[in-house]
Amino acid sequence: MAEQVRAGTFVVAVDGPSGSGKSTVSRHLATATGARYLDTGAMYRAVTWAVLRAGVDPHDTDGVTKVAADVILTIGTDPATPHVRADGVAVDAEIRGSEVTSAVSAVAAVPAVRELLVAEQRALIAAHAPIVVEGRDIGSVVAPDADLKVYLTASAETRARRRSAETAADVAATAEDLARRDRLDSTRTADPLQQSADAVELDTTALGIDEVVNRLRDLLSARVAG
Ligand code: DC
Repeated sequence: MAEQVRAGTFVVAVDGPSGSGKSTVSRHLATATGARYLDTGAMYRAVTWAVLRAGVDPHDTDGVTKVAADVILTIGTDPATPHVRADGVAVDAEIRGSEVTSAVSAVAAVPAVRELLVAEQRALIAAHAPIVVEGRDIGSVVAPDADLKVYLTASAETRARRRSAETAADVAATAEDLARRDRLDSTRTADPLQQSADAVELDTTALGIDEVVNRLRDLLSARVAG
């Protein structure tokens, strides 16, 4: 099965809310199928880091747009070593910190920022496919022709538990922060988090990583072979 997948060029779109397992599943699926991996959330986070570094208010649409237009992002697509640079600075640790996490939804809601990043994401996909791409609007906006679209979910409690294990933050505070970001990401006007009608929905609450990845690899093999 996996050989069939490896033989072709394909795009897999993985969308879903924070803590649904997108990053882990996407990286493992990319590794299992010999594909590249693109974390689009890291791009929104890196722009947010640049906005904060410039002393710009994340709600100042014009200021944010200017920073986004000027910053040079470099993002790795090897699933074994994901990394992102903003103006040559490695920002992998900083973009996961609480300052960036609190501000990123506001930055990601600016239509001009999305336009710039969606264009960059499409160029990266064209240059690096076969590729697994994770985000919020991949199946609906960035890659509407993806060979496989996946929408991952998990219970609110599971998502908060997973995120707090990663960040060492308190579970209750993490749950609150996830609910706040879900609300902002799903209700914004520009490209909100949404499930494409043709996406396969998978609830990962009670599934192990290997189970999810094997299921998706089989689905992808069938699509690419078909
Ligand atoms: O997946 P993440 O938590 O690293 O994403 C960070 C933020 O970026 C999140 O609040 C939603 C936003 N985002 C987005 O709007 N569109 C994407 N394709 C990816 C992320």
